[in-house]
Amino acid sequence: MASNRTFTMIKPGAVRNGHIGAILAKINEGGFRIVAMKYTKLSAEKAGEFYAVHKERPFYGELVEFMSSGPIVAAILEKDNAVADFRTLIGATNPAEAAPGTIRALYATSIGENAVHGSDSDENAAIEGNFHFAGTEMF
Ligand code: RTP
Ligand code: MG
Repeated sequence: MASNRTFTMIKPGAVRNGHIGAILAKINEGGFRIVAMKYTKLSAEKAGEFYAVHKERPFYGELVEFMSSGPIVAAILEKDNAVADFRTLIGATNPAEAAPGTIRALYATSIGENAVHGSDSDENAAIEGNFHFAGTEMF
């Protein structure tokens, strides 16, 4: 059975540029319920672990450096069809290809600094949510 949860991070660039409130408003308007949320910062080690699947990619070093460059907002979100619907709400990885009105079209500055993360499967949503939150922090 498909899970109804996904995991997101508002990335350091969008935090620095003052977009936390606007992005949370889009998430709210998109019909997602907040299950868990925190304002935190990833160490380079934790960022490397989170994106370990991309270890062999040429952009891995930059990605880890960027994701540990400042605070993030991490959250677990709930909605029917959460993973796919959230990917639709955020838009394509490259903001130049993201549909108008999507979070990345509005708030990303480049493919590397693309405003938000969204889980790519139910399995990864559960792994990523558990990476950031204890069961007692989920409501
Ligand atoms: P995310 O995991 O952050 O939600 O992004 P995504 O699924 O849309 O894209 P993914 O392929 O998982 O890539 C993870 C992140 O790596 C950075 N990236 N940089 N410079 C590049 O060519 C490049 N390609 C990917 C992006 O920040 C992407 O979100
Ligand atoms: Mg991804």
